[in-house]
Amino acid sequence: MPDGQDHIARGTSEDDITAAVLARFSATPDERLREIMLGLIKHLHAFVKEVQLTEAEWFQAIEILTEAGKMCSDKRQEFILFSDTLGVSMVVDLLGHRKPEGATESTVFGPFHRLGAPQMPPGGNIAHRDATGIPTLVSGRVLDLEGKPIANAELDVWQAQSNGLYDSQDNHPDQLHMRGKFRTDSEGRYLLRSVLPVHYPIPSDGPVGAMLKATGGHPWRPAHIHFVVTADGYDAVTTHIFDRTDPYLESDAVFAVKDSLICDFIRHETPTLEAAKLGITGPVCTAEFDFVLTPSGATAQANVHDAQRRLAALGAR
Ligand code: BEZ
Ligand code: FE
Repeated sequence: MPDGQDHIARGTSEDDITAAVLARFSATPDERLREIMLGLIKHLHAFVKEVQLTEAEWFQAIEILTEAGKMCSDKRQEFILFSDTLGVSMVVDLLGHRKPEGATESTVFGPFHRLGAPQMPPGGNIAHRDATGIPTLVSGRVLDLEGKPIANAELDVWQAQSNGLYDSQDNHPDQLHMRGKFRTDSEGRYLLRSVLPVHYPIPSDGPVGAMLKATGGHPWRPAHIHFVVTADGYDAVTTHIFDRTDPYLESDAVFAVKDSLICDFIRHETPTLEAAKLGITGPVCTAEFDFVLTPSGATAQANVHDAQRRLAALGAR
């Protein structure tokens, strides 16, 4: 060992060990990495000491993480589920997307986005293989903070099927379904066709599910539709809209509900004019939601496209 290193009293108490570890990592050359590592060590050691973690419990934690790693595949991201269900994703999201009053709030990205959703015309049906859901039209505008329409904004939309599964979890995982990209017209308007969103459980047959069960929680997410809204000159927003009547709004397994994202899905027993034009013959639901974007760089902004690419790089297809 080179002279001058690790001369802090060795191993006499748990606080000596914490000090020795902090001293060693203080030499990390990259400033940000140093800040993160020192914070991590400080809090991790404090946590272990606070709960007086036993060897058996520590080993159980290693087993849980090992199991989580084994479960990850191109269809499953157990670590994102841990981050989401422990509320870490929402805290990171809030830190990275502080919004001015009136701007559409962001919420979790989740593990089910896929690259390559098809471009669709106004009124295009993302739920073309879903024979059981209630046809639903979602419309609204994309606006700036002054209420002016943003033309040619893109809405990348994804949603669970009416059986509660995403396409990647169902029988034909290689075929995209319940996904589409829509553009706003010159008045900032968009219109998409889908089915009424349903509440569904996040995957719970792995360590995250075991954690929820052991802690008296549940895996359910309130009914929602996912959006990433982008436009030239504006910060993108990754968000959901939620059905106001959903019983899980108060207890979303991933803490993603914000009041401003709750929306009325109104049931019509006979098709509205717009629904009839799109060939819908029976009952239909309609929802209206305006997205308000902030000018580029106006908020601390993690790049949404980077998030999409990172998820794809983890193996999501
Ligand atoms: C989702 O809404 O797709 C989702 C978000 C977080 C965890 C699991 C699923
Ligand atoms: Fe979802």
